Amino acid sequence: MQILTTLPDLQHWQTQNRAQSIGFVPTMGALHEGHLSLVEASSAKDDATIVSIFVNPTQFNDKSDLEKYPRTLEADLAMLDTKNVDAVFAPPEDVIYPSEGFKVPDFELTDLTNVLEGAYRPGHFDGVVQVVYRLLDLVRPDRLYMGLKDYQQQAIIAAMLRQSDFAIQLIPVSIVREEDGLAMSSRNRRLTPEQRLIAPTIYQTLQQAQADWIAQFLPTSIQAKAISTLEQAGFQVDYFEIVEATTLESVELFDESVDAIACVAAYIGDIRLIDNLQF
Ligand code: PAF
Repeated sequence: MQILTTLPDLQHWQTQNRAQSIGFVPTMGALHEGHLSLVEASSAKDDATIVSIFVNPTQFNDKSDLEKYPRTLEADLAMLDTKNVDAVFAPPEDVIYPSEGFKVPDFELTDLTNVLEGAYRPGHFDGVVQVVYRLLDLVRPDRLYMGLKDYQQQAIIAAMLRQSDFAIQLIPVSIVREEDGLAMSSRNRRLTPEQRLIAPTIYQTLQQAQADWIAQFLPTSIQAKAISTLEQAGFQVDYFEIVEATTLESVELFDESVDAIACVAAYIGDIRLIDNLQF
């Protein structure tokens, strides 16, 4: 596994792998099983897999969240070394954001970026689009692997790719859950033992919402019931919404032909967890 930190390193690796299909897994480190499932999906499909580790400052609307974000490069590299990873691109900030010569095209994404997470984290998705575009422009993979836990993120990147000149296929990878249903996340390691016991309520609430959707309950009443369950368990809920899977528009009425997905964000203590379930 090669560790690349500069553009010449990356270009040299690309020259070595020119004849191969390249799968790319962008990350911010603090790796867990969820990330490894992306790596496995890539190494199963592509000839060479490259993982990036870069904690992107522009996607943190809350600067204290950026400071608290775990930086565990040594442990991350050790984990990746157990997998079929060909290269890790871990650049310093000035490689990703040079003072000149880099501009992200104007994409029309506001309908997707202003809702759900975007309504609570202003500017977050602008930062995500900026860094993913930059990374794709540098790495030039054939396929991009992204986890479905950040459902809105992958929907936005899918829309960005459709509007871009890149010939890159996005491969969404299923959420990896703990045995009790909690979606794997770098933030889970900050949960106290008491919070960890309560945290799976999020997934249980999503499953109940799915059952209620199948029973053709009104989306507004499904949402109200889910929020009340979460609040009773001790969460402070930012949103629990049922939306259409591609446009992320709110679903107002049951319709079995609609590709509906429930998305939730809720705090337990000061830890914000997100999850989703496609109905
Ligand atoms: O999902 C993440 O870890 C980040 O948002 C990403 C896609 C690596 C961009 O910084």
